[in-house]
Amino acid sequence: MQFDTHVVRLNSKLDNYLSTQGSLTEAMRYSVLAGGKRFRPILAYCVASLFDTDLNKVDSSACSVEFIHAYSLIHDDLPAMDDDDIRHNQPACHKYFNEAQAILAGDGLQALAFEVLVNDPLLDSKTKIELLSTLTHAAFKMAEGQAIDLSIVSQSVDISVLENMHRKKTGALLSCAVDLGAITAQCSVEDRNILREFSQAIGLAYQIQDDVLDVEAPVGVLGKNQHSDSDKNKPTYPSIIGLSESKQSYQALYKKASSVLELLSVDAQSLQALIQKLQIRSF
Ligand code: IPE
Ligand code: IPE
Ligand code: MG
Ligand code: MG
Ligand code: MG
Repeated sequence: MQFDTHVVRLNSKLDNYLSTQGSLTEAMRYSVLAGGKRFRPILAYCVASLFDTDLNKVDSSACSVEFIHAYSLIHDDLPAMDDDDIRHNQPACHKYFNEAQAILAGDGLQALAFEVLVNDPLLDSKTKIELLSTLTHAAFKMAEGQAIDLSIVSQSVDISVLENMHRKKTGALLSCAVDLGAITAQCSVEDRNILREFSQAIGLAYQIQDDVLDVEAPVGVLGKNQHSDSDKNKPTYPSIIGLSESKQSYQALYKKASSVLELLSVDAQSLQALIQKLQIRSF
């Protein structure tokens, strides 16, 4: 299966980038190489592949977006944030090491994300600047979304507040992954815009689904604590509009993403298959 090939490829690149020995790298490796579905890198590879792009040129983008994601999860689990102790079926970074190490491992991963792009010898300067600017923007939005998340704990908020937060904390990085693939592929502006509409739909869908999974999926399947959101009094889609309407929301968004793809100038079968995979994910 094509997605598995992308994941194998990605894992070996991640391993290479994290090969420097040292205590900080140990904590970074611990979190990055523990697993994860790798949806963001898969998106970057799939989008670039639509336009027959040399995947060697996409490796740094795929790794950079996963490094930002991994950093966001390490910090997300910290006591000052969601205070969760399990991630990817193993103790969270701050539990296995300590809080300071986890903060620094996150910091290190964020820096590394930019370093791998800056130092990629296969990319020209103009492309690099575009990729870096896209990643920077998304990393900032993610942090902003996380700040909103923490600021509305125990509050009763309108669904539009939640939608805005979800688009920032999760949607921004998923959209970024698609953008990185599209930038490297140098596809047309029309295709870029269509892909942006696609990515915005799946980005929001993905976090609504994460909220639903937090209610429905047991820890052994999730690889992280179930009911983390309700335990911390987090407003979520299910807590505001209910489980069944939340499911309808994300399914409608995936459907929208799928129909938008039909407008592309190229055949997007791989992305259609990815939407199917996302839709039925159990963790
Ligand atoms: C979890 O993301 C946090 C969100 C932004 C929804 P993923 O579910 O993509 O995390 P992993 O890497 O696959 O575990
Ligand atoms: C996290 O959202 C979004 C991030 C940017 C990390 P959650 O807090 O719901 O993610 P999980 O459920 O802990 O993976
Ligand atoms: Mg969180
Ligand atoms: Mg969390
Ligand atoms: Mg969650």
